[in-house]
Amino acid sequence: MRKRMIAGNWKMNKTFSEAVVLAEGLARELEGGTGDVDVVVAPPTINLKGVAEVIEKEEAPFALSAQNAYWQESGAYTGETAPNMLEAVGATHCIIGHSERRDYFGETDEDINKKAKALMAHGIVPISCCGESLDIREAGTHVAFVVDQIKKDTAGLEITDPSKYVIAYEPIWAIGTGKTATADDAQEVCGAIRATLVEIFGDETAAGIRILYGGSANPSNIAGFLEKEDVDGALVGGASLKADGFADMVRSAMA
Ligand code: 13P
Repeated sequence: MRKRMIAGNWKMNKTFSEAVVLAEGLARELEGGTGDVDVVVAPPTINLKGVAEVIEKEEAPFALSAQNAYWQESGAYTGETAPNMLEAVGATHCIIGHSERRDYFGETDEDINKKAKALMAHGIVPISCCGESLDIREAGTHVAFVVDQIKKDTAGLEITDPSKYVIAYEPIWAIGTGKTATADDAQEVCGAIRATLVEIFGDETAAGIRILYGGSANPSNIAGFLEKEDVDGALVGGASLKADGFADMVRSAMA
C-alpha cells in the first residue's frame, strides 16, 4: 500500500528568515500530525539548514527536500551541491529533473539518471520529475514522450525499497499557469508511468513507487487528483508558499 505524499516545491522563493517563518507556520498548522501522509518541503538550498532547525525544534511532521543536487561527491564544480552535503544538513529528499531545470539549465535525462543514482547512494529519496510541453501535448504524443523520459531517468537504478523513489508527473503547460490538467489527464499519464515501471522493475516494486501530480495543484482541486488510481499525491509549487493552504492540501490527502 502506497502512502500518499504531499510535497511543496518553494522554488526560488523566500529569504532565510521568510523560509523559517513559513516552516514555523506549517509546523503550527500540522501540529496534530499528518496521519498516514508523508509531507515534504523543498526550500532553496541556502535555506535548508534553517528549515531543518525548525523541523527539529518544533518536532514538525514534515521532511526536508532539496530542489537539486549534483552527482559528484566533491570537487571543482562551482555552485553545485553534493548529496552528502544535503544529507549533512538533514535533507532526506531531493527533487531532480524539474522542467525548469531542464528548460533553463539544460539538464538532460542522462544527468537526471546520474543524480538519482548519486542521491540513492546516500539514502536520499529522489523526487524525479517528468512531463511534456504544450507542443507535445497538442501533437498527442505526450504519453510516449513521458514513458521515454521515465525509461531514461530510471536506467540502471536499483530500487530495493520502492518507497524511496518518487516520480512527479508535471505537465509543463500546467505549471504556474493556473491551467490544470484534468484528473483524467493526470491518470492517463500516471497510469502509463506505472505500466512502464512494471515493465522495468516488476509488479511489486512498481506498485510501491509513489507517482505525484504537479501543475497548478491547489486546495480546491487536489481531491480530484487524489481519487485517481495512479496518483499518489502532489508536488505543489505556488500553493505551497502559504502554510494554511498547503496544510489544507495535506488534510485533503489525509481524508
Ligand atoms: P505550480 O503548483 O506553481 O504550478 O508548480 C508546480 C511545480 O512545478 C511543482 O514542482
